[in-house]
Amino acid sequence: MRGYGPHFPDSHARQIRLDCFAIITSNGAGMSDEQVVEQDEKAARKAARKAAKKGMFKAAVAQVESIAQTQVKEGDGFVQHVYDDYETYRRVQEEGNKAKLKAQFVKKTHIFFLAEWLAAQGCRPGFALCHGVRRGKEQAWFRKKMKGADVIGTDISETATQFENTVQWDFHDDNPEWQGKADFVYSNSWDHAYDPAKAFRAWIHCLKPGGWLLIDHTRGHSPKSTNVLDPFGATRDATARILAEAGQGLGELGPVLDRMADPDYPAAVLTFQRAKA
Ligand SMILES: C[S@@+](CC[C@H](N)C(=O)[O-])C[C@H]1O[C@@H](n2cnc3c(N)ncnc32)[C@H](O)[C@@H]1O
Repeated sequence: MRGYGPHFPDSHARQIRLDCFAIITSNGAGMSDEQVVEQDEKAARKAARKAAKKGMFKAAVAQVESIAQTQVKEGDGFVQHVYDDYETYRRVQEEGNKAKLKAQFVKKTHIFFLAEWLAAQGCRPGFALCHGVRRGKEQAWFRKKMKGADVIGTDISETATQFENTVQWDFHDDNPEWQGKADFVYSNSWDHAYDPAKAFRAWIHCLKPGGWLLIDHTRGHSPKSTNVLDPFGATRDATARILAEAGQGLGELGPVLDRMADPDYPAAVLTFQRAKA
């Protein structure tokens, strides 16, 4: 137990000052005991949230495994779970979405970073798309940072309509209304694609000339992170190769944005720029 009093936990360097009968203790970082307790409680709450999230994710995978089986295909730098048919894919993704509806994967700081990076490229978005958004947070954060931008999100699940600026849409499909209209397209959900090359090409079709496609690659997008719910995983190099092939004739790969040092959301962002007219 920590707190005021004449005890000296080994793990903390203590500075003790007797002053007007008051005992003030501090650790090496110069924190008071209340601050140490507060920090410990914060860390415990964070660990509990992480454990709950892990439990929710495991339960979601177990749930979809009870309704579908997949065949696992291994390729050059990627692993793909193949479903029996499209209906099974849709059902798995919808069930998984509902089971994890309270979860949030990407962080606000990452979206703000991307918004700043886009601004530095001279991108002043009128219209933009985020794919596989679940709760619609990413478009909300882009809108906050990019005043006046009409950023909308998609999700395959019927829950899409519960969230602001979100439409129910399968991101593999070309939407005639969006062709050539978007200043940027962002997604961290391509590991849920049954055909990532098809999805990437559809997203590039939505870009204006000079527009940017931004794809997050995290540990969760790697080959060993695949399962029935997250059916596709690839190394960063394989992802770049698939993206370049999908965009052949439409533009070029851009820089990889290295965000691996971000403690909350370590990621590499693969970029692709649609050819300027
Ligand atoms: C891992 S979650 C990521 C959610 C959100 N981007 C985040 O950072 O929290 C993947 C989301 O993609 C959605 N999804 C899966 N397949 C999809 C598809 N073909 N088209 C659109 N959304 C899809 C799922 O329903 C789910 O909400």
